[in-house]
Amino acid sequence: MLNFCKIDEHDIGEKMMKIKFQKMRVLSVFVRVVGLCSTLLISQQAVALATLLGEAENGGKLLDARCSACHVNMFGGDGSAIYTREEHSVKTVEGLMARVEACNVNTQNGELSADQMDDLTAYLNEAFYKFED
Ligand code: HEC
Repeated sequence: MLNFCKIDEHDIGEKMMKIKFQKMRVLSVFVRVVGLCSTLLISQQAVALATLLGEAENGGKLLDARCSACHVNMFGGDGSAIYTREEHSVKTVEGLMARVEACNVNTQNGELSADQMDDLTAYLNEAFYKFED
């Protein structure tokens, strides 16, 4: 009888240990998932921040010299209606960066540098789109 009780206690102890291990595993997976999410969030913020690192003043000059003529042909005025029209296509900072890159490749044979495109993006965001990082 005494022996039987001892075995039982031992069993319970082992089960408790298993449950503890399972809890720890769940916790460690949770911690890893949270870690991954925050890494993604930080890298997204870094992308947005890179936009703001461009020099808007230089971007404005580049836009006049290299970009606007075509937009003026399409929309008249100073061409800026392409950015402000109700159904404008750019909706996010990332979208703006992609569009500047596409216009560069399509119309300038990709000859503007990454820095120049950052400047253009910074200017367009400051003057028209006003996305917050
Ligand atoms: C040869 C013509 C041409 C030139 C040059 C040009 N673009 Fe464009 N751009 C377009 C066209 C076409 C669109 C798309 C219009 C549409 O979606 O209806 C566009 C759209 C855009 C948009 C998105 C507007 C919106 O809808 O929100 C941005 C931003 C832009 N261009 C930036 C630039 C920049 C920066 C340059 C200079 C590097 C440039 N473009 C040079 C033709 C041009």
